[in-house]
Amino acid sequence: MEPIRLGVLVSGSGTNLQALIDAIADGKLAATIQMVLSNKPAVPALDRAKKANIPFLTIQTESYPNREEYDKALAQELMNCQVELVVLAGFMRIVTPAFLRHFPNRVLNLHPALLPDRPEKDEVTLPDGTVSPVFRGLNVVSQALRHGVKWTGTTIHLVTPELDRGPVLARREIPVLPGDTPETLHARIKEAEHEMLPLAVSEWAVKLKRG
Ligand code: GRF
Repeated sequence: MEPIRLGVLVSGSGTNLQALIDAIADGKLAATIQMVLSNKPAVPALDRAKKANIPFLTIQTESYPNREEYDKALAQELMNCQVELVVLAGFMRIVTPAFLRHFPNRVLNLHPALLPDRPEKDEVTLPDGTVSPVFRGLNVVSQALRHGVKWTGTTIHLVTPELDRGPVLARREIPVLPGDTPETLHARIKEAEHEMLPLAVSEWAVKLKRG
């Protein structure tokens, strides 16, 4: 099977981008990263792209009159690079249908909390049998901590116009430890993401290629 052509969207540290770069280099993921796009200039994720000789570009929102025009420009850039599958790897913006229509079932997101299989649900059952609200939107690691749950986790899902309600591809539960801060908890969540992401991309790529 031909390697899948990826586009990766970032806004920050890019450790998940790095996990993809490393998995490709190690032969664990049959893919090429055609382009890394950021909405913010000079973020560490772009240094990672540069170091790996991957084309990268910053497209700042200020240059566009509205969200739709911005999203169209993002999609156009990715289409120009023949991208088949888009990974939102810490891209801190909501993408609109103006973007999604160009990549149906072809946009994956990493969400650093547990999302349910049934997207309409607003609760998940945790490994200890307790029930937690579903944390959607921004700052979900802090939301989980504030809520005092004993478990949280991370979810890889397909992006649909309904925020954080697309079909789940992979999920892992992570225990919240005594003394956890948003930073320590998020660091453990990211460790899991780095393992999960290349696998999820690989599996979804196979499904897409087989139609
Ligand atoms: C990840 O934890 C992801 O779940 C969230 O943003 C974080 C990105 O981290 N959407 P990084 O930029 O890949 O290090």
